[in-house]
Amino acid sequence: MTRYSKVAMTLHWLMALMIIGNLAGGFLHDFIPRGSPERAFVMGLHASFGLTLIALTLVRLGWRLANPPPPLPAYFTGGERLLAKAAHWAFYIAMLAAPMSGLLMAERNERPLLYFFAVEVPKAGIGKPLAQTFNEMHEILGWAMLALLALHIVGIIKHLVMDRDNLMPRMGVGKPRA
Ligand code: HEM
Ligand code: HEM
Repeated sequence: MTRYSKVAMTLHWLMALMIIGNLAGGFLHDFIPRGSPERAFVMGLHASFGLTLIALTLVRLGWRLANPPPPLPAYFTGGERLLAKAAHWAFYIAMLAAPMSGLLMAERNERPLLYFFAVEVPKAGIGKPLAQTFNEMHEILGWAMLALLALHIVGIIKHLVMDRDNLMPRMGVGKPRA
């Protein structure tokens, strides 16, 4: 077995797309004028995709625990194995914590929190000061996720260039080695 399952691959790429979109929306929405409908639209999508990610992460974790991933290539050193595992689990933690902190900070303002502009999502009732703390956590988690993504990509490039090993087919991109 050299590849992840079809389910794992589909969830990986679907969620990667949504998370990268959310990182972009989160970090770049300040360039859109405050109070404009465009900004409300971007952040409405940001919150909705974020809430969807909570559910998808739970499904993905369940799948991951029931379906062990393909073993890492034999040449990986002990340190590389540890780093890859730590980075992957840190990603899973961030994939839950980032959107959860987003949900918990929603109480900072009086606007209703709408799922895809339609269904009102109840707020947690934790009060404004705590919501403000979650806002700060949300920003830190955004940066942490960006750093993990950079590490993830640097790792893939390292194996491609230094070990002449393309890991992408393991995640369904390109043909696996014979
Ligand atoms: C924010 C976006 C992303 C997240 C959250 C993410 C998360 C993860 C996680 C958690 C795993 C480990 C899966 C497991 O063992 O359970 C993984 C594996 C992998 N990811 Fe990503 N990923 C992201 C973006 C990307 C991108 C942009 C690429 C390609 C450039 C990529 C390529 C891969 C590959 C090739 C593997 C398999 C690694 C192996 O050989 O075991 N990922 N990703
Ligand atoms: C994986 C999911 C998510 C990621 C990666 C993410 C990421 C980010 C990032 C990087 C920022 C910019 C932080 C800053 O520089 O101040 C941000 C802002 C924001 N996020 Fe998220 N977010 C996610 C989910 C959510 C969810 C579920 C909600 C609400 C239910 C939400 C609501 C917001 C709001 C309202 C802001 C604007 C904060 C401000 O302008 O002070 N986010 N997000």
